[in-house]
Amino acid sequence: MTYDLAALRAQVPALAAGTAHFDGPGGTQTPLPVIEAIAAALSRPLSNRGDGLPGERNADALVVEARRAMADLLGARPGGIVFGRSATQLTYDFARTLAVGWSPGDEVVVTRLDHDANIRPWVQAAERSGATVRRADFDPDTGELTAEHIRAQLSGRTRLVAVTAASNLIGTIPPVAEIARIVHEAGALLYVDGVHRTAHAPVDVEALGADFFVCSPYKFLGPHHGVLAARPELLETLRPDKLLPSTDAVPERFELGTLPYELLAGTRAAVDFLAGLAGQQGGDRRARLGRAFELIEEHEASLRARLEKGLAALDGVTVRSRAARRTPTLLVTLEGHRTQDACRFLAGRGVHAPSGSFYALEASRHLGLGDTGGLRVGLAPYSDDQDVDRLLAGLADFLEGTARADG
Ligand SMILES: Cc1ncc(COP(=O)(O)O)c(C=O)c1O
Repeated sequence: MTYDLAALRAQVPALAAGTAHFDGPGGTQTPLPVIEAIAAALSRPLSNRGDGLPGERNADALVVEARRAMADLLGARPGGIVFGRSATQLTYDFARTLAVGWSPGDEVVVTRLDHDANIRPWVQAAERSGATVRRADFDPDTGELTAEHIRAQLSGRTRLVAVTAASNLIGTIPPVAEIARIVHEAGALLYVDGVHRTAHAPVDVEALGADFFVCSPYKFLGPHHGVLAARPELLETLRPDKLLPSTDAVPERFELGTLPYELLAGTRAAVDFLAGLAGQQGGDRRARLGRAFELIEEHEASLRARLEKGLAALDGVTVRSRAARRTPTLLVTLEGHRTQDACRFLAGRGVHAPSGSFYALEASRHLGLGDTGGLRVGLAPYSDDQDVDRLLAGLADFLEGTARADG
């Protein structure tokens, strides 16, 4: 079983321009089968879901197949897969729905490591219900968020803890399963932001102990929408606002209005594409996804080692991604230089590594980087050695100030 990087890259049209993409944490480039699946869905009769007309049946099949695919990817059950416009929108919806049961004196825990999409919806929902927000710190030197950081904020009144499965700013992977244990012992629910993690590691929501797990297919080679996984029995207990004529069934109860059927086709294709990275060996899709992610992790770990070695050899580069367990997403700052300038310089050489705090605003401030953040170098399944070498050469030239952007 080997990782066929050349075959993978050949299937991603956006790579043909020759750009080295390190902007995957903001959104990965899209493989052809995903693009074709979206076009195919729109090329056949398509209407609202139903079982009467062909267009209705096609829509229904796209939803059913996408739920199965996401359930395979996340180790969840299809009946617990909720689709939405984005992870942010789903988290806002669930925060509003869950907060109906909160009252003054109740407590909600958020972390400083999280993307704002897993902080603000909880803070605002807590404000409206009179609940108190408690913040779990992380260690700004090591980048670690431990179960102890969470434990320090738990009490008998904790109703919910919102934590990231991996930081989109510095890559830290907190011990979610351990956190789940103490959160559940405290009688609270755990809402996990899996947006960054799902792109880099196999996910098993049951093993993680996540009551809710949200992710976004556009971070793992799919199209732009959001997905939430939860136990169907838990979803049955929740009563979101909804239209009178729309079904009260789970998970549809949480899906407001018409779903983006063509995007769901793309998401199913993205999951199949990922599973296909394991090669032609047999097994069901979940098993193939497990093997594919082993290969992706191995590939990204070797590129990360090359990148880290190269960065360590450059004077004036500080790597802020330091946690023992982390994704291949490196945040770097540059002594005496603005990372926005480095981003622009690199872009001039066809190397795309964005600069910013990427909505992980509290994390950036806690790291002492204010609202500016740093240069984020994110590896993706299609990244290769040449990409890394071009980034390193570009950064070296930028720091030396000798070379000019050549187009
Ligand atoms: C860790 C993390 N959480 C949440 C989000 C928001 O996801 P969406 O764009 O689907 O709302 C992002 C997007 O970058 C992210 O990286």
